[in-house]
Amino acid sequence: MFDFKSSPVFAKDFLWGGATAANQLEGAWNQDGKGPSIADALPGGKQRFAIASQPDFAWQIDEDKYHYPNHRGIEHYQRFKEDIKLFAEMGFKCYRFSIAWSRIFPQGDETTPNEAGLKFYDQLIDECLKYKIQPVITISHYELPLNLAKKYGGWKNRQLITFYERFAKVVLERYYQKVHYWMTFNEINSAFHFPVMSQGLVPSSGSQDFTNVVQAWHNQFVASALAVKIGHQLNPDLQIGCMILYATSYAYDADPKNQLANLQQMQDFNFFCADVQVRGEYPSSTARMLHDHQVNPQDLEITTEDLQLLKENPVDYIGFSYYMSTVTDVTHQDATKSAGNLIGGVSNPFLQTSDWGWQIDPTGLRIALNQLYDRYQKPLFVVENGLGAIDQLTADGKVHDDYRIDYLRQHIRAMAGAVTDGVDLMGYTPWGCIDLVSASTGQMSKRYGFIYVNLDDQGNGDLQRIRKDSFYWYQKVIQSNGSEI
Ligand code: BG6
Repeated sequence: MFDFKSSPVFAKDFLWGGATAANQLEGAWNQDGKGPSIADALPGGKQRFAIASQPDFAWQIDEDKYHYPNHRGIEHYQRFKEDIKLFAEMGFKCYRFSIAWSRIFPQGDETTPNEAGLKFYDQLIDECLKYKIQPVITISHYELPLNLAKKYGGWKNRQLITFYERFAKVVLERYYQKVHYWMTFNEINSAFHFPVMSQGLVPSSGSQDFTNVVQAWHNQFVASALAVKIGHQLNPDLQIGCMILYATSYAYDADPKNQLANLQQMQDFNFFCADVQVRGEYPSSTARMLHDHQVNPQDLEITTEDLQLLKENPVDYIGFSYYMSTVTDVTHQDATKSAGNLIGGVSNPFLQTSDWGWQIDPTGLRIALNQLYDRYQKPLFVVENGLGAIDQLTADGKVHDDYRIDYLRQHIRAMAGAVTDGVDLMGYTPWGCIDLVSASTGQMSKRYGFIYVNLDDQGNGDLQRIRKDSFYWYQKVIQSNGSEI
């Protein structure tokens, strides 16, 4: 057994930190010139995706009918100094957050940015730097300006490349001297199952037709390559990564049919987008994937210039989220299904599940790290991981979240294992380091944080920030560079 106490597994400059996204914590959804984003049009509650999947869903914001928790978030927009101070107290080396596109370009298609929006990020970044916390910025995290979804039909429309390029250029030029780490799109592959949040595509704009999803991906790949190009022109040393949702996937059994289906699941879901962004070209499995989804390649608009741009501008590292693993089974029609972040699968009898039914699998993280590193040989960054759970604020004003500590501890051990396997791992930013609004269910009660925020699903609460037991635990983990876990 590897001795974690005495061996320095993680690099000296390992990026310990936490991750959030603008739309899930900032609030201030229409303040200082910010326009609405698609996240602002998603109601709270477990039915959020069902509502967005209705054939007539048209991105209307109807505050009489629904509660929209993202509008208020956790009021980070007003309280960011207090929050960053708490991150600093935990010893964060980095903080991953996103820039709300609709704060900078309220409708998405303007030519001049909203200075008030930029001022907010000037302050946020300076606040991080004050504590020597390195910002890690996701340029686009599930928060497309609403107008681009309504008027242009989301990412299937090629015009969005220009709008994104303009946005990326503004923020890269403004912050490249202060911010070294960037990611172009959050969980770009999640559109495979649910293109609403990452592509702004709903049934009324063609989400049911996989051709639109693939076209939207292609447009995003081009946009991402343009951001990489702009960033590297400003400073060739900037680290600009892709970001994928990785779910280690196992074949249900040794039946070759399940093995093949699982291989294809890995190729299509876990690797397809990363292959394009990391290697700069479409993988050989693309033709088979398109055929399986009845997509005629002739219907896609992909130019030779696009392909050249992709080839010339690969990403520098691979950021990924990891919460759970899945099982592929094409031979047992009656197998029990499991839940998951935008993906389901068959239940794995060897694994426990979270309060939301996600299968907890730390070993799957070690496997993921090895699979990704074997395939790409580029640095990896675990930019999301964590346990969404119901926390109880006890009478003594504390939150005893030993279940979260246990989850994170096991995943950090798995990362340490992967490092000893030879994987080049840059850092770890657990998701929702402060409680925030859930992306898939719009709930506050699904909490990931080291910091409890006193706010419930109906919007009641004084938003007080309270350090959970995991806060002190993570502080020690960082202090000891991962040797005291
Ligand atoms: C990832 C997203 O899918 O998982 C985050 O990048 C999201 O935005 C996180 O919040 C956890 O998912 P959820 O649905 O529990 O909030």
